[in-house]
Amino acid sequence: MSFLDLAKERYSERYFDPRPVEQEKIDKILEAGRTAPTACNYQPQYTYVIQSEEALAKVRSMRVSHFNAPLMLLVCYDTETAWRNTRDQWYDNYCSGEQDATIVAATMMYEAEELGVHSVWLRGFDSQQVAETFNLPKNHIPVMMFSMGYSSEQSKPSPLHFQRKPLEETVKKL
Ligand SMILES: Cc1cc2nc3c(=O)[nH]c(=O)nc-3n(C[C@H](O)[C@H](O)[C@H](O)COP(=O)(O)O)c2cc1C
Repeated sequence: MSFLDLAKERYSERYFDPRPVEQEKIDKILEAGRTAPTACNYQPQYTYVIQSEEALAKVRSMRVSHFNAPLMLLVCYDTETAWRNTRDQWYDNYCSGEQDATIVAATMMYEAEELGVHSVWLRGFDSQQVAETFNLPKNHIPVMMFSMGYSSEQSKPSPLHFQRKPLEETVKKL
């Protein structure tokens, strides 16, 4: 399948089968993340794998929609190693960490999709609560989480999935 077809077929999965994701597939998903570009190649990302009953129970104790996925990934960046742009007049010492973590996450999402492992990108959480619950080092900033796993029989895209703006609205020539 071409990349564009894969991208078009993907939708946010919110109906997971409890079947665990095989370690071999998790390893490939993480390896895909390792290939992602990052500013100056500093690789400030940290991916926390949330798979044990204990760690999943911690997520369930938080205010975050997890959709009962058997696997979750939490992607963070390290404030101490992320690249800083000292020449940007809009931002004071602009930190690339969110962008770095995001492209790592996106790369993992599409690798997972290719392996038949579906996901939903989650940002509706309280960063402080996540950091405290998992006792993260204070320089690890939570950027996003995935709920991941195999689709259950109820799987279907949400109505939002079908609402893509036309390119004429979002692409401008300069
Ligand atoms: C930055 C970001 C944050 C998101 N946060 C959430 C979230 O907290 N909960 C959720 O159910 N979906 C979340 N989503 C998924 C979007 O709602 C979804 O991608 C969008 O509605 C388009 O649907 P589709 O992914 O099925 O094509 C998020 C997606 C992105 C990129």
